Amino acid sequence: MSVMEAILQRKSIRAYQDKPIEQEKLEKILEAGRLAPSATNQQAWKFVVVTDPALRHELVAACRNQAFVEQAPVVMVLCADEVRDMACRQPARTIDCSIALSYMQLQAAELGIGSCWLGAFSAPDVAKLLKIPAGFQVVAVSPFGYPAEEGRVRSRKPMEDIVQYDAWETKKN
Ligand SMILES: Cc1cc2nc3c(=O)[nH]c(=O)nc-3n(C[C@H](O)[C@H](O)[C@H](O)COP(=O)(O)O)c2cc1C
Repeated sequence: MSVMEAILQRKSIRAYQDKPIEQEKLEKILEAGRLAPSATNQQAWKFVVVTDPALRHELVAACRNQAFVEQAPVVMVLCADEVRDMACRQPARTIDCSIALSYMQLQAAELGIGSCWLGAFSAPDVAKLLKIPAGFQVVAVSPFGYPAEEGRVRSRKPMEDIVQYDAWETKKN
């Protein structure tokens, strides 16, 4: 599968089969995250792999009652202790963890495993539940599992609405 095929394959999945992810496939997903680039190659991240059913159940409340969170056999929680903002004034941890999770989700898509990025969660509640050490910030949460739904193909803005060549005022015809 090409990178573009994986990009096209990935959709947010919000219903999961009651079927575990094979360890070998889970490790491939984690490897994709491990190999992701990070600011000054700090790799200041931890990937917390939640498989315990009781913890997954409790994660639902920490994730704004999104019930499908506990359906998934794996819930990935990405956190980082890099608190630095880069020169561009963006937090390195947010960007680093976001790239890592994007890589993981694309690798999962290639393996036929669904995922859904979650931004609706309480970072302190997730950190408390998973005993994440002080200093680490929870950046992203994503369930992973075999899909129990096709997922909807969501529309995207046309290229001309989002791409600007050269200086903003320049018009190219
Ligand atoms: C940063 C971010 C936060 C998101 N938070 C949630 C969420 O809390 N719950 C949810 O069901 N989907 C969430 N989504 C999924 C988006 O709704 C979804 O990516 C978008 O509608 C496009 O659909 P697609 O992923 O199927 O292409 C989030 C996606 C991103 C990138």
